Amino acid sequence: MTLAQEVAEDIEPAVMDAKLMYNAIYNLINNALGACGDGTSITTRARVIEEGEFPDGAFLEVAVADTGSGMPEEVRRKLFTDDAVSTKAMGTGLGTKIVKNAVDAHGGVVWVESVMGEGTTITFRVPVDGSPAAQEAMRLAAQKAEQDAKEE
Ligand SMILES: Nc1ncnc2c1ncn2[C@@H]1O[C@H](COP(=O)(O)OP(=O)(O)O)[C@@H](O)[C@H]1O
Ligand SMILES: [Mg+2]
Repeated sequence: MTLAQEVAEDIEPAVMDAKLMYNAIYNLINNALGACGDGTSITTRARVIEEGEFPDGAFLEVAVADTGSGMPEEVRRKLFTDDAVSTKAMGTGLGTKIVKNAVDAHGGVVWVESVMGEGTTITFRVPVDGSPAAQEAMRLAAQKAEQDAKEE
């Protein structure tokens, strides 16, 4: 199995909640690992698009693409909804909820493309600034910096 990372050369810094984003990407890769066997690959791509369909202004796009098992139609249809299902024996169905919540908190969108036997790609787009989660993360960081300065 090959793990690869493709980050666009012209990528720009984006303001967001690093912990929420980490959890989202962690879960996407973790799910891809579960769907991948010998000879497969998982590629994580990131780029910033200055002007696109969503949203107004620049957004960050992250895609985790695997060449694993693919996702059954009934799972794919319900993914990222309240009726989402797990196909794993001890599955929780929580991973994709964590992804959806993180993307929602940033005012973004997430979608899935999958072909049985060929693989799955999950892509999300979030604004590079101005999202509620980013604003909150910045507010907390500023508060902490102020606190640290006082304690010195
Ligand atoms: N990359 C993927 N390839 C194939 N199926 C996937 C992939 N990611 C998610 N799934 C499907 O979506 C379901 C829900 O995923 P998730 O919410 O993380 O819960 P869990 O991993 O606990 O089952 C999984 O059980 C699996 O069927
Ligand atoms: Mg999972």
